[in-house]
Amino acid sequence: MVLSRRGSGSVVLPTGQTLAIHTRTNNEEDLPHATKKTMADHLRKYETLFTLTPQRMRMIVEAFKETLELGLQKPEQVVPMIPTFVFGWPSGKEKGDYLAVDLGGTNFRVCLVTLMGSGKFEITQTKYRLTEEQKHEDGQKLFDFCAESLKTFIDTNFGDEVEGGTGFKLKEGETLPLGFTFSYPCSQNKIDHGVLIRWTKGFGASNTEGKDVGEMFRKSLEKHNVPVTLTALINDTTGTLIASHYVNPSTKIAVIFGTGCNAAYMEHVKDIGKLKDMGINVGEVNGKEGEEMDMAINCEWGAFDSFEHEHLPRTKYDIIVDETSNKPGEQAFEKLISGRYLGEILRLIICELIDEGVLFLGQNTYKLENPYVFDTAFLSLMESDPTDELLMVIGIFSHFFAVETTLAERQFFRALAKLVSRRAARLSACGIAAIVSKMGYIDEGCSVGADGSLYNKYPGFADRIHEGLVDVFGEKGRNIITHHAEDGSGVGSAIIAAMTKIRKEAGIFPDL
Ligand code: BGC
Repeated sequence: MVLSRRGSGSVVLPTGQTLAIHTRTNNEEDLPHATKKTMADHLRKYETLFTLTPQRMRMIVEAFKETLELGLQKPEQVVPMIPTFVFGWPSGKEKGDYLAVDLGGTNFRVCLVTLMGSGKFEITQTKYRLTEEQKHEDGQKLFDFCAESLKTFIDTNFGDEVEGGTGFKLKEGETLPLGFTFSYPCSQNKIDHGVLIRWTKGFGASNTEGKDVGEMFRKSLEKHNVPVTLTALINDTTGTLIASHYVNPSTKIAVIFGTGCNAAYMEHVKDIGKLKDMGINVGEVNGKEGEEMDMAINCEWGAFDSFEHEHLPRTKYDIIVDETSNKPGEQAFEKLISGRYLGEILRLIICELIDEGVLFLGQNTYKLENPYVFDTAFLSLMESDPTDELLMVIGIFSHFFAVETTLAERQFFRALAKLVSRRAARLSACGIAAIVSKMGYIDEGCSVGADGSLYNKYPGFADRIHEGLVDVFGEKGRNIITHHAEDGSGVGSAIIAAMTKIRKEAGIFPDL
């Protein structure tokens, strides 16, 4: 919809809700609003709190690099740098039909991927939205739901003469290889197993942390007679790394900025010191030292600076977000960056100004007082409002929170959204810079495959990352370019399942 300066209209939010927009011109005298000057004074205070200088960014990058190194050398570190057992890049020649399921922060997705070689593929998929109950009930029940949904998908697409089906048929006893994308930190000692280290992104299903989620899912698949073989357990970032490289071989790093945040990259096996401690000896492969090979690492960088809080600039709002979360102390980096938290940070600032009597005097503000009601999508909508009067911002506050705003307040909210999201993008740049610097990619440059709602939908997020990279590296920062990644948890998962099948059939580390 194109918004006119005056009048009414509506816009559909990413959540599917419709937001009515209307202009009001003469309400500014009715209620005791803050003056323009008061809002400008407050903004200055938040600018100081939320601005990251290039110098501070470089200090964060240095600490980040040390943390990444430590995670590679020693097991069980805060940033776990998980070896994924995805050995090297895809050849691009991987072919065949693969199933992929993806248990992410918001949805459960089932995909049938046909890899056609030379970087081409076709995909058929169905998405199921997860309920809050499912995220917190018994873990085995959650996997049962996933298995049942997969069974329905297979019956629909592979059944006899199914209308709208894909035309695929399974022979008696035949199973399809399955890539399972599970976007939470799991420590792995082979590709088709993984022990959940901790839930993130607000998940809290019981009886799952510390357990092998590969085995739990297999149990549910058997219970529901689903004709698949779980070939690989994959993190979404690893899938994104491989899928992006499949179509764009200059990709060296993958990042996700969505409900959660994380990165994966390709490491030299010889530099993963802790493999020996894990009892894994890669030995010799086809006459070559196994150590000359590469392996993808799932960094789980959302955990950077957790517990100790030594390096990241946390404001009191960030500390409240952390302490009131279901996992205090954990995912310190993610809590400053990801889509799950940015709206909540802004809401806490607004609530403080309400309590101080600066905002919405005489209005009923109870709707703003519920944690997490201020969706990060609102920040994105506020920043993309093209109208002088900020009609979108009027609509958000009046429709969802039943409060009226003046233009000065709306400009203030929009400026706040910019501060919070710009800090997130600049911190994201620090993470990317740490990997780039560690791997020595700055001179030759590289592509970074990026995915997630924040990266894809937040206006200016990618540009702010690029600005941040120049602040860290100077002009050379322009050699590092992020681009919208290929679908990692669908296509990437299928490619990894294919690579694993080929590797094992060739007798290369058949037990890993
Ligand atoms: C999880 C990662 C995941 C990221 C993006 C984080 O909360 O710990 O495993 O890659 O979210 O989905």
